[in-house]
Amino acid sequence: MKIASPQELFMRMLSETNSAEKQITRALPKMARAADDPKLVEAFEHHLEETQGQLERIEQAADSIPDIRIKRLKSHAMESLIQEGEELVDATEKGPLRDAGLIAAAQKVEHFEIATYGTLCELAEQLGHTKAKEILAETLKEEKSTDDKLSKLAKQDINKKAG
Ligand SMILES: [Fe+2]
Ligand SMILES: [Fe+2]
Repeated sequence: MKIASPQELFMRMLSETNSAEKQITRALPKMARAADDPKLVEAFEHHLEETQGQLERIEQAADSIPDIRIKRLKSHAMESLIQEGEELVDATEKGPLRDAGLIAAAQKVEHFEIATYGTLCELAEQLGHTKAKEILAETLKEEKSTDDKLSKLAKQDINKKAG
C-alpha cells in the first residue's frame, strides 16, 4: 500500500519499530547468556525489562491517536542487526573478546533505535500528537542511556581485557 500522508508514514514507522522491539526482546536473553562479564549480563537483562516497557509504550502511543492501529510488518533492519550479532557470537569463544563484539553489536542496535525514535518523536510533534511524542521520548531516553552504559562498559574494562 502506498504511503500518502505524514500520518501514514508515522504509522508505518511505528509498526516497524514494534517489530524491531519484539525481535530484540527475543534476542536480548540470548545475548545475556552469551556474555561473560556479569556487568554486561546485567546490562542486557536490565534492557530486556526496559524493552518490554517500550513495547507497551508503542501501544500507548498508538492508542493516544484516534483511528490508528499498529500493523503487522517486519523490521528487516533489526533482523539483520541481530543476525550479525549472532554470527559474531558463533565466531567467538565465551570471554572478553566475545563481550567486546556483543557490545559493538548491541550499540549498533541502540544507535538504530535512537535514530528511529528521534524521527518518530519529530513526526509526532509535527502531526500535533503531543501525548504520543511524550511517550516515545521516554523510550528515546532509555535507548540513549543504554548506549551510554554500553560505551562505559566497553571503555572501563571489557575492551581492555579483550586486548
Ligand atoms: Fe528499544
Ligand atoms: Fe534498546
